[in-house]
Amino acid sequence: MGKTAIVTGASSGIGRSIAEVLLQMDYEVYGFGRDFSDCKNITDHRSFRKVEMDLLQTGKLEEEIRKISKGSTIDLLVNCAGVGYYGLHEEISEKNISEMVRTNLEVPLLLCQLLLRKLKESHGTIINISSITANQSNPHGAAYGATKAGLLSFSRSLFDEARKYGVKVTTILPDMTDTDLYRNADFTCSSEENARLLPDDVAAAVRFILSSDPHMTIQEYTVRPQLHRIEKRN
Ligand SMILES: NC(=O)c1ccc[n+]([C@@H]2O[C@H](COP(=O)([O-])OP(=O)(O)OC[C@H]3O[C@@H](n4cnc5c(N)ncnc54)[C@H](OP(=O)(O)O)[C@@H]3O)[C@@H](O)[C@H]2O)c1
Repeated sequence: MGKTAIVTGASSGIGRSIAEVLLQMDYEVYGFGRDFSDCKNITDHRSFRKVEMDLLQTGKLEEEIRKISKGSTIDLLVNCAGVGYYGLHEEISEKNISEMVRTNLEVPLLLCQLLLRKLKESHGTIINISSITANQSNPHGAAYGATKAGLLSFSRSLFDEARKYGVKVTTILPDMTDTDLYRNADFTCSSEENARLLPDDVAAAVRFILSSDPHMTIQEYTVRPQLHRIEKRN
């Protein structure tokens, strides 16, 4: 029988590439996002189930997860949805701080809480997409980095809590990847080929993690481009 995955942020960037890889690996994929208009490559696939909603509507999210997990085994949860606002911390609005904390941290915590019993039954896997920023100082991205550090800390604890039940918890820490994440920033990824990652590079990490021998588990996986460069927006 095929496996079932839940992927947040499946409508864009890294999450869309991960969904694509999982479909290639014969998973049935429930992909969460708000706007799938640029996702024909996954939405046309017979094993893709689109869940078009705002993850910050907690009641609706709980209801959707209950509906999905009622009928099927859940083998994989990928927490990938995220949002970033950058600049001097005093200039980041309360609304934007709240959106980052809720999307990048509260939602993954809640989804793990809702799905852990199902994942214990299947000896499943949780993959949390944190960031290289989780391990470093992030001037002009202090709040964003804090949410990613929070997710890494949570993942490390959950790794130890869940491993004895056969559940694997892996955190991926990507460096700058060429996606829409920097739409609110005055900088963006380098356009130099060797100085930025592509969403497919992170999806390849997911494939590697899921293909590794079941007796082992990869706790943290950092992916970086060869060169370190950032580009200022004009
Ligand atoms: N790009 C990088 O350099 C980089 C580096 C390290 C880590 N990351 C992490 O990678 C993850 C994916 O980001 P990305 O780079 O692929 O950026 P992206 O292209 O902007 O994708 C973000 C995804 O999150 C979804 N999302 C955000 N808020 C949502 C909400 N309230 N409800 C439902 N969906 C929501 C978006 O859905 P809609 O577009 O449909 O609203 C989209 O699918 C994030 O957690 C990010 O922090 C990115």
